Amino acid sequence: MKSHSQQSYIPALKYHALTRFYDLVVRLTTREGMFKNKLVELAAPQAGEHVLDVGCGTGTLTYLLAEREQKLHIKGLDADPVQLERANSKVAAIGSQISFQQGYAQQLPDNAQTFDIVVSSLFFHHLTTHQNNQIQHN
Ligand SMILES: C[S@@+](CC[C@H](N)C(=O)[O-])C[C@H]1O[C@@H](n2cnc3c(N)ncnc32)[C@H](O)[C@@H]1O
Repeated sequence: MKSHSQQSYIPALKYHALTRFYDLVVRLTTREGMFKNKLVELAAPQAGEHVLDVGCGTGTLTYLLAEREQKLHIKGLDADPVQLERANSKVAAIGSQISFQQGYAQQLPDNAQTFDIVVSSLFFHHLTTHQNNQIQHN
């Protein structure tokens, strides 16, 4: 398997040059608040649980989870360091138990099986067939 530095991924808006517009585009073109809040409701996280947000992007869903239950241990995983930078600045204000990690869905952190809940939004269409197969074999 390729190391992290060798992996490629499909950026949030397909081209890296557009990544900085991601939050604005999602806000204007989707009912983001509605469906992400619904995801949080369905996940129904409880205090003390460990939650993983795969392909977390700028951390909007991650943030909503932390807002709903402050005693969560949340990890956001994304391939794109630029997205994670934005995510970090978003959650800095709430000082919750959130950490972000640069990484790949097809190469999850070693402790991935210890999470109580795994969430994801607007992510799976970013996987190539090969990456999808890798996930299914892991
Ligand atoms: C459309 S954005 C969705 C971001 C966020 N989940 C949301 O709902 O706003 C897709 C994200 O998947 C990330 N991504 C693409 N391929 C990935 C992979 N193989 N592993 C982890 N993240 C990946 C991109 O960097 C991007 O931030």
